Amino acid sequence: MNIAEQLSSQDAIKLENDHGAHNYHPLPVVLSKGEGVYVWDVEGKRYYDFLSAYSAVNQGHCHPRIVNALAEQAQRIALTSRAFYNDMLGRFEKYITAYFGYDKVLPMNTGAEAVETAIKICRKWAYERKGVAEEEARIIVCENNFHGRTTTIISFSNDEAARKNFGPYTPGFLKIPYDDTDALEKVLRTEKNIAGFLVEPIQGEAGVYVPSEGYLKKAAELCKAHNVLFIADEIQTGIARTGKLLAVHYEEVRPDVLILGKALSGGTYPVSAVLADDAVMDVIKPGQHGSTFGGNPVAAAVAIASLEVVKDERLADNAAELGSFFREELNKYIAGSGIVKLVRGKGLLNAIVINDAEDGDTAWNICVALKENGLLAKPTHGNIIRFAPPLVMNKEQLKDCIRIITETLKEFE
Ligand SMILES: Cc1ncc(COP(=O)(O)O)c(C=O)c1O
Repeated sequence: MNIAEQLSSQDAIKLENDHGAHNYHPLPVVLSKGEGVYVWDVEGKRYYDFLSAYSAVNQGHCHPRIVNALAEQAQRIALTSRAFYNDMLGRFEKYITAYFGYDKVLPMNTGAEAVETAIKICRKWAYERKGVAEEEARIIVCENNFHGRTTTIISFSNDEAARKNFGPYTPGFLKIPYDDTDALEKVLRTEKNIAGFLVEPIQGEAGVYVPSEGYLKKAAELCKAHNVLFIADEIQTGIARTGKLLAVHYEEVRPDVLILGKALSGGTYPVSAVLADDAVMDVIKPGQHGSTFGGNPVAAAVAIASLEVVKDERLADNAAELGSFFREELNKYIAGSGIVKLVRGKGLLNAIVINDAEDGDTAWNICVALKENGLLAKPTHGNIIRFAPPLVMNKEQLKDCIRIITETLKEFE
């Protein structure tokens, strides 16, 4: 196959349609290049990326420091497996545990794998440390959660598209409403064998639902009081996206188990991780969990560089400042708008809710129009459009984006 051959957008879309499983419904744009906040399609048209690969590209596309780390390490040694030690993994483990303040890290590849890892650690901790009877451990999760696509994870989803006809489902999960500490308190008080509470600090995929102030703090306190692990899935919200290094930092919460992915590699490589202190992580012994690629030298090198960039370029502060400006400006527009109901979010993880039925197509049509006008975003759950640009954006670029967004919305008023 000649991969140097230039493809038109139409050709590339046809290839995917003809030969790939239809498990996504992409916007009709074919990207072939990225740099910072921009991506280019195969015809050379430039766009602002307002999705950042679902918040994986927080550091901007093809960040030179991260790409160099990747290329240099790939030329030295890419994969050793964990059958042997390698000279990068330990450095990464030391760096990331100090960075987030935990005793230990368990590296994996994708977000879903890291969530699975956290579930396994939590269950094992419940049996071996808390004394829960064998096979009885239960983990509390929230309605409208999104934690990935494995069979166990979709077992506790309530999104029919994600779940239907993939059963039988994994038992051992208890679902409560999100942003409801009374419901959490009640379950913790009345139900037995609770091992953990798994929660997204902001529900990203569900449509960027920001919980009430104090929710995470109170939830963490309740978990502590009931000897239940507070497990934060910061795969989407973490690593500066919401204006702090972690979204839980807004409420000074320190999860017992922290799950990271996506921007841990600046979008250049699948890298995920679970962090916890020894009292929890020590339940995992040789042979009980792992992954051929987890903690490989390229992933280690890339993750160190990605985290360095977040700190050195003060991306959390930038996300906080630009995010406030974005919501302020959009609120000015929304005050006189019939098509947009509201904007919500934290830092540069935001969404607008379109005045349409949940299964309406206005949000999709707006995204197609945004694309025509040079900005890429995607609806999540029908009438909600998520706006999550790379955190390396500057104010002038953001003003240009706000102009594109508001002018496009006007076409739909
Ligand atoms: C909160 C959260 N958890 C888990 C995942 C799954 O990550 P991955 O797609 O890398 O498996 C996602 C992906 O969007 C996510 O947003």
